[in-house]
Amino acid sequence: MNFPVKQEIIQQAIDELHIADFSKATIREVVAVATKVEKETGLEFIRMEMGVPGLDAAKIGVDAQIDALNNGVASIYPVLDGLPALKKEASRFIKAFIDLDISSEGCVPVVGSMQGTFMSFLVAGQCDEKKDTILFIDPGFPVQKQQAVVLGYKYESFDVYNYRGDKLKEKLESYLAEGNISCIIYSNPNNPAWFCLNEHELQTIGQLANRYDTIIIEDLAYFAMDFRRDLSTPFQAPFQVSVGKYTDNYLLLISGSKAFSYAGERIAIAAMSDKLYHRHYPGLTQRYGSGTFGSVFIHRVFYGITAGAPHAAQYALATMLKAASDGKFDFLNDVKVYGARACKLKEIFLNHGFRIVYEYDLDEKIADGFYFTVVYPGMTGGELMAALVPYGITAISLDTTGSKQQGLRACTSFIKNHQYDLLNQRLTAFNRTYPI
Ligand SMILES: Cc1ncc(COP(=O)(O)O)c(C=O)c1O
Repeated sequence: MNFPVKQEIIQQAIDELHIADFSKATIREVVAVATKVEKETGLEFIRMEMGVPGLDAAKIGVDAQIDALNNGVASIYPVLDGLPALKKEASRFIKAFIDLDISSEGCVPVVGSMQGTFMSFLVAGQCDEKKDTILFIDPGFPVQKQQAVVLGYKYESFDVYNYRGDKLKEKLESYLAEGNISCIIYSNPNNPAWFCLNEHELQTIGQLANRYDTIIIEDLAYFAMDFRRDLSTPFQAPFQVSVGKYTDNYLLLISGSKAFSYAGERIAIAAMSDKLYHRHYPGLTQRYGSGTFGSVFIHRVFYGITAGAPHAAQYALATMLKAASDGKFDFLNDVKVYGARACKLKEIFLNHGFRIVYEYDLDEKIADGFYFTVVYPGMTGGELMAALVPYGITAISLDTTGSKQQGLRACTSFIKNHQYDLLNQRLTAFNRTYPI
């Protein structure tokens, strides 16, 4: 048994990487420390810090992309607002799996959801000079706050843990009543906590978006991965829930990265409602002379940043979306392994005295999926993260996600079959060092 690793070895790695306070380490710093310690000691780490897909990219996508490259698309600029076939399939996919009607013109292939949020924040923040602040329903994906900082935009955020259900309305209104919120963003299912805002909560958000004229950015990075329900049959309920049922002031982000394991090709769809696409805003007219939300998004901002999304990857996504809507490609079947892993991992953590932090969607237990959150009695998130490293276990502290709860986010994507036994042994040793 070569764990726990001696504290000196871990400290040496932390010092060499110039990390001032490991309990506040970022994902990349945790990765770097684990890699160094792994190399130094030969101890295999159970790595749960990174949210990287960890599965093979969907083959039909890869094949379509290779064909597109062989047909010469690499040398040709993609159409700015997207490959017509992809726009059409994105619109159809949204109808098939969310039951929303969005015209193909509003479905824009972008360089990952990351670029989609960046451009959405940017344009939303230019619509009305009084609305200069982004509201994050946290916990969330930390890089999106970084995007707000890069853009020089103000932001507000709150941890939704204590504001689920009926309590959400008052909390949101306390921000919206200030009149300065340009847009609201959340992910559903949630990164890091994997809860899902339900129909009632989305209705509240939609109604408030109408009342306070704010744009909702719904980040569907983990599209339809609420495995409690079978959302895999196209054009048939149940569907992926969406705020789009309750307001026209919305923009969806559908990423190729997780549902199709296509993260490396940086491809996603930003889909804005028809009404938002065609809406004129005084701030946009003043800045650009003319233009609607959609035309500014595409012809000014997108053009000015990357002038389109990678050409061959658009063929891949078009093929995957079409096959999914045709009922010929069950993309959720490929990724439900994450849920199976979460179920086993959670059980092991619970058997060793850990608790799930974000455990419920109101009265229903959250799904098993890509991420889950754990805490150990008497330890803060930062302390727990540091205490697990000697046992060859890595995850990130919830602090970095805007959560006000203590605990860790664990990601299931890199877990290998033999590691359940390892986790069991290591947490047994951890319990001996830190008895409850
Ligand atoms: C909530 C959320 N949004 C967006 C992204 C990034 O998506 P993309 O790879 O399409 O840029 C991630 C990736 O981890 C995420 O967790």
